[in-house]
Amino acid sequence: MKPKNKKEITMKSDYSKLAQAAIDAKKLAMPTYSNFHVGAALLTSDDEIILGCNIEISSYSLTLCAERVAIFKAISDGKRKFKAIAIASDFEGFISPCGACRQVISELCGEVDVILTNSKAEFEVYTPAQLLPYAFNDSQLPS
Ligand code: THU
Repeated sequence: MKPKNKKEITMKSDYSKLAQAAIDAKKLAMPTYSNFHVGAALLTSDDEIILGCNIEISSYSLTLCAERVAIFKAISDGKRKFKAIAIASDFEGFISPCGACRQVISELCGEVDVILTNSKAEFEVYTPAQLLPYAFNDSQLPS
């Protein structure tokens, strides 16, 4: 079941720039096999926007999603705190991040707003916990 949208769409102006950055990042995508373009835009705590796009290769399972590309790029640039991540695709409804990306967002992005856009550039805002309830995390690892 789809979780309840965290914030009203009146939040639109706050995240329209980030949503547009994710939409623009779709142009960078390399969806060689699926032809499904995905863009992500990660907003850091110092208001930098780091982009990601999906990247596919002939060994299909090594495909990287746009969200994880943006997050790992940011981490490798030394960024550790984030405010929001926007995700865009050509699907007419609101893009729903895959399970692997939900885990990575949940573990590495903290309490970010997750901005899901549709093909009309509208968006909905969710928390990581809404998208991945009862998530595995390092508290379950042996100390
Ligand atoms: N994809 C993403 O980039 N993010 C998602 O959250 C869903 C799926 C990509 C992976 C693959 O390149 C293509 O979309 C089709 O699954």
